[in-house]
Amino acid sequence: MLLKSYLFALLFSLARSSSEIYGKYLSGFTFASLDKMGKQMCVRECQSYPGRCKSVNYNRVHLSCDLNTESATDKPEAILDREGSTYIEILTSGNSPICGNIQCSNKEKCVVTKSGSSCILQGCNMPRVKNAEFDGGLLMSWESMQCKTGYRYKTSLTCTERGLDKNATEFKCYKEVDGWTLIYRGQSGGTDSDYLSFISNGKSDETNKNVNDEYCTSITKSPLCTTNYRTSLIDRWQSLGNFKVNVSLYKNGTKVAEVVFNGTGTSQVSWFSPSKILSSSWSDVLSHQTYKYFSLEGHVNTGFWRNFQIWKNYGGCGATDLFWMSLSYAEPGKLCTQEQTSTKQYFYCPATTHCIFDQGEVADVMTVSIKMT
Ligand SMILES: *[C@@H]1O[C@H](CO)[C@@H](O)[C@H](O)[C@H]1NC(C)=O
Ligand SMILES: *[C@@H]1O[C@H](CO)[C@@H](O)[C@H](O)[C@H]1NC(C)=O
Ligand SMILES: *[C@@H]1O[C@H](CO)[C@@H](O)[C@H](O)[C@H]1NC(C)=O
Ligand SMILES: *[C@@H]1O[C@H](CO)[C@@H](O)[C@H](O)[C@H]1NC(C)=O
Repeated sequence: MLLKSYLFALLFSLARSSSEIYGKYLSGFTFASLDKMGKQMCVRECQSYPGRCKSVNYNRVHLSCDLNTESATDKPEAILDREGSTYIEILTSGNSPICGNIQCSNKEKCVVTKSGSSCILQGCNMPRVKNAEFDGGLLMSWESMQCKTGYRYKTSLTCTERGLDKNATEFKCYKEVDGWTLIYRGQSGGTDSDYLSFISNGKSDETNKNVNDEYCTSITKSPLCTTNYRTSLIDRWQSLGNFKVNVSLYKNGTKVAEVVFNGTGTSQVSWFSPSKILSSSWSDVLSHQTYKYFSLEGHVNTGFWRNFQIWKNYGGCGATDLFWMSLSYAEPGKLCTQEQTSTKQYFYCPATTHCIFDQGEVADVMTVSIKMT
């Protein structure tokens, strides 16, 4: 330990005169990595960010240049060995050789023009993205934008010197529940069909500021959510790659039933079928089971519908009416007595296998979520 601090003191007394340490680099504070440049150019790049750049790691093998927001003087513990690398500390006191006596903020870069040096704002103009950490405006160059905690997108969005590294309009934040990405949510009450909402391409609630995610992505039913929450990931179903689809039913915030399907190579509607089942909370929801109906669109007629339905047998509401789940809507006089409320209800069998429809219970929230495999 003592020897180590002695070595650092020695290194830095040497570094003061040359400002360089061979075979070292500063780890963890790089805000920009540039390539194909000489050592002097690398130092000048750093000097162009007077408020922000305190040191560089120059690699003479790869001709690469890392600009660092910290220096070994302040972070001696971050100096590590690396062959081919030269650590160079930039003296920040006095006039910058590039900016002269102009003071730039740490969001600016000094550039030399015919009429002298000037400060130019360095960043990318970002739109506001729903549920992103960065709330629109100027994202500094070399900084990245992520989704808020609880939301996720495949990657972050980085502002480089050439602008955003990806198409900003494609950067969206999706709600995550237990590692699954929420693509659809409905709740009981109301009369709108979950099947029709699910397939209504173009509806993109992940970007719609009028849809309140606090209520509309929750596993708890809320009167403050007035829409079937649907994301545009459903529009791109066939380009999603390899993924699983998870349909879960919740009652008062507790999961009461689920079926997981293999979404790979399916369409927006064909994934909900016996041959795609991967697992279920019901032990007899299996690929080789016999079903009366296993369908997303379900059973639709004047004054009633049942969708997202899995039925073993239709038995006229009696002892042979056997089911697992059914999102039902029925006007008075249509379907079975318990369905005749003129609002949709999420029926499920509370047993570990199928049961008589009459013994079904009612859930209040349904979610469809996906996970890449
Ligand atoms: C970005 O993506 C949007 C939506 O996919 C598209 O309409 C737009 O043309 C894209 N812009 C660029 C510059 O690629
Ligand atoms: C299905 O998704 C829910 C979140 O909606 C999650 O709690 C559950 O664990 C998932 N099921 C499986 C088998 O991963
Ligand atoms: C629903 O959940 C809340 C909070 O967990 C609890 O206080 C309430 O009793 C539950 N209601 C029913 C009907 O189970
Ligand atoms: C999902 O389906 C694809 C396409 O049919 C198949 O290649 C893959 O093995 C399946 N995955 C699982 C876990 O069954």
